[in-house]
Amino acid sequence: MKFNLKYAVIGCLAASIVTPAFAAGSGADTYKAKCAMCHGADGLGTTPAGKAMKAASFKDPAIVKAPDSELIATATNGKGKMPAYKGKLTDDQIKSAIAYIRTLQK
Ligand code: HEC
Repeated sequence: MKFNLKYAVIGCLAASIVTPAFAAGSGADTYKAKCAMCHGADGLGTTPAGKAMKAASFKDPAIVKAPDSELIATATNGKGKMPAYKGKLTDDQIKSAIAYIRTLQK
């Protein structure tokens, strides 16, 4: 009985560690939670915060053409008024958020 309980506790701990990693898999969720307040659900940057800070429209040809690596670097290190997400989001979360932005450019 003691043994079973121990394994049950380890099982719960493992599950609680694994869960956030699953949540991080969705770029759409990350984008909606962290980016949409400025960039807008449609990525056009027309929210009040986006307008105030002059957030670029993701449909801007320069951003459509920019390689993923550049957009990832911007989200990681920040640029102008764009906040840096280094340490706040994992590399995978940033990557999947950028992948989601690509879907908004179509
Ligand atoms: C507080 C408002 C704000 C939030 C939140 C925000 N951004 Fe931005 N973002 C900006 C602004 C302002 C710019 C324009 C920066 C510039 O060109 O000076 C920008 C620009 C960008 C660019 C384009 C960079 C380029 O090369 O011109 C990308 C990509 C980007 N943001 C991604 C993200 C992602 C991903 C998130 C969420 C993890 C996010 N942003 C959250 C304000 C924000």
